[in-house]
Amino acid sequence: MKHLIDPTDISVAETDEIIELALDIIANPKKYAEYCKGKKLATLFYEPSTRTRLSFTSAMMELGGNVLGFSEAASSSTAKGESVQDTAKTVSCFADLIAMRHFIEGAPLAASKVSGVPIINAGDGSHSHPTQTLTDLLTITRELGRLDNFTIGFCGDLKFGRTVHSLIKSLSARSNVKVVLIAPNELRLPGYIRHDVCERLGVEYKEVSTMEEVMGELDVLYMTRVQKERFLDEDEFDRVKDSFVLDRKKMSLAKRNMAVLHPLPRVNEILTEVDADPRAAYFRQVENGKFVRMALICKLLEWKNDPEHETPIHFETFEDKALCCSNAKCISNLERVPMLFRHTENGPIRCYYCDNKTRDNM
Ligand code: NCD
Repeated sequence: MKHLIDPTDISVAETDEIIELALDIIANPKKYAEYCKGKKLATLFYEPSTRTRLSFTSAMMELGGNVLGFSEAASSSTAKGESVQDTAKTVSCFADLIAMRHFIEGAPLAASKVSGVPIINAGDGSHSHPTQTLTDLLTITRELGRLDNFTIGFCGDLKFGRTVHSLIKSLSARSNVKVVLIAPNELRLPGYIRHDVCERLGVEYKEVSTMEEVMGELDVLYMTRVQKERFLDEDEFDRVKDSFVLDRKKMSLAKRNMAVLHPLPRVNEILTEVDADPRAAYFRQVENGKFVRMALICKLLEWKNDPEHETPIHFETFEDKALCCSNAKCISNLERVPMLFRHTENGPIRCYYCDNKTRDNM
C-alpha cells in the first residue's frame, strides 16, 4: 500500500511525477474533470484547518470525485473514546483514500498500519506536514523554475512549525540547497532535524538571529507564524510572539526575484504592506496547494496497490515495553499501539512514531 505520512515516503522521482502532473492539471484542467468519478476521499480533521481541508475537498471535487468526513474530533466517535486505529479501519470501509489531520503526533502513521486504503498525513501535531511540502515544492518550481541550487531562509517558529520540518527533510534529497535558519533561541529547529537530517545527509545550513543579516542571500524566504497553540508555557510565548516580522524595509534588502512563501495562516509576521510586492508568493502558494493535492490524489489511486510504489521502510524498528517516548503528545503515550523505537547512527534511540528521544535518553 502507498501512504504519504512523511515527505520521504515518496522518492524524488515520485515527487517530480506529482509536480509534473500538477503542472499538467494547471495547463489542462478539463482533461482531469472526471478522473476520480465514483471515488471517495475521507477527510478526518481532528484539528482546525482552513486551507488544507478545503483544498483537499476542492481538489477531489475538481476531479469529479466525492468527499466525506468530519472537521472536528467532537463530531466523531473519538468523543466516545474510539482509537485512531479503529476509526481508520472503519473509514477505510467507506472511502478510497483518507486525509487525516491530528493533534496527536504519529496518529496518521499508526492509522496507516491498519487502514485498507492509503492514508495521507494532513499534519500531525508539530511533527510533519508532507502535503504542505508538495505545495511548497510546486510553488518553488513555479516561482524559481528549479528545485536545486538555491538558498532558502526559514524564519519564525522552527521548533513547532511542522511545515518547516517536512520541507527541510524533502529538500535534503535535492542538490545544492542551502538552508538558513532564522529564529530566536526558544524556537530553534528540533535536534532530530538538525542532526539526523541536515548533518547526516550533508545539507549545508547556518543559524542566524536577525533577518537583516541574510536577506540579500536568499532565493526563497519561508515565513512562519509562532504556533501559540503548541506552547506549553504562556510566558515563553509572550517573549517570542513578535520576534520576526517581514515588512517593506526588509524586502528592500532582498534579491529582485526572491520568493516569499508562508504556509498561512499569518498572524502578524508579514505586514499586509508586503502583499502587493510581486515577490510575495503566499497566496499563489494557496492555489498551488489545490493543484498539487489533485495530482497527489490521482497518483496515490494509481500507486495504491502497485508493489513498485510501496511505502518504503525507512528504519528497522524494535519493540520495547520498558522504554517510553519523551513526547507527551505522541500516540505511543496516548493510545494503545506497539511501543516501537529505532536506533540512530551514533545518536540516541528515537520513537518510531514522532522521532523524539526516549525518556531514558533525556
Ligand atoms: C500550517 C499548518 O497547519 O501546519 N498551515 C497549513 O497547513 N497551511 C501552518 C500553520 O498552522 O501555521
